Amino acid sequence: MNVFGVDIGGSGIKGAPVDLARGALTEERYKLLTPQPATPQDVADRVAEVVGHFGWTGPIGVTFPGVVTGTTVRTAANVDPSWIDTDAGALIGAATGGLPVTVLNDADAAGVAEMTFGAGRGRTGTVILLTLGTGIGSAVFTGGRLVPNTELGHLELKGHDAEKRASSKAREDEDLTWEHWASKRLRKYLAHVEMLFSPELFILGGGVSRKADKFLPYLEGIRAEIVPAELRNDAGIVGAAMAASEAGREA
Ligand code: BGC
Repeated sequence: MNVFGVDIGGSGIKGAPVDLARGALTEERYKLLTPQPATPQDVADRVAEVVGHFGWTGPIGVTFPGVVTGTTVRTAANVDPSWIDTDAGALIGAATGGLPVTVLNDADAAGVAEMTFGAGRGRTGTVILLTLGTGIGSAVFTGGRLVPNTELGHLELKGHDAEKRASSKAREDEDLTWEHWASKRLRKYLAHVEMLFSPELFILGGGVSRKADKFLPYLEGIRAEIVPAELRNDAGIVGAAMAASEAGREA
């Protein structure tokens, strides 16, 4: 069965139909720039454009970089604050001419995809996926089940919001070496998360997962196994489609 997945990010909105049996896109994804400012209506219109590009008329799953309860956005750390309390499902549904829409947190979507098709396959203990990008997103699993909206990127680290110190953006903005960023920032952050949850596995996603060899060697002293995400750029799209399919079964 195929379902459509859309990943809303700070810089791009990308989507494609997903083959749920394989966890793979059936066509090359289509990407548009996120409008700036990324206000709800403008973003919903771009999502509709991405969906329309494929002539898609079935259910769609959409990721959002904030807390999502039901289909309503509750936080917007790195996107326009006017999203807070917006019913993204209703808005995108209207923009797409009434398609059924499921919405979930972006890291939760990536986590769901990794647990089924990627680095977390078959793992039943506590697994934590962290996406290291503009912010830090988290997805926590135990027994293969997700605890949604964990927001571990906003833990406090040395008096700061953790994502402001340990995200990929922090490394770039502060021009830190890989060694400095990994050994001083990321390692301390992982140690803190490990102290709280004792996971058996950390999966590190986001753009930096492609450069794992540059920073994994500096993450000494963490008990849990640490691996890069496997689905790379497509994890959000695949996870969004999986969530939409799940919602369809429950309805
Ligand atoms: C948001 C999370 C999101 C993460 C990655 C954080 O700032 O609060 O909801 O998953 O960024 O986009």
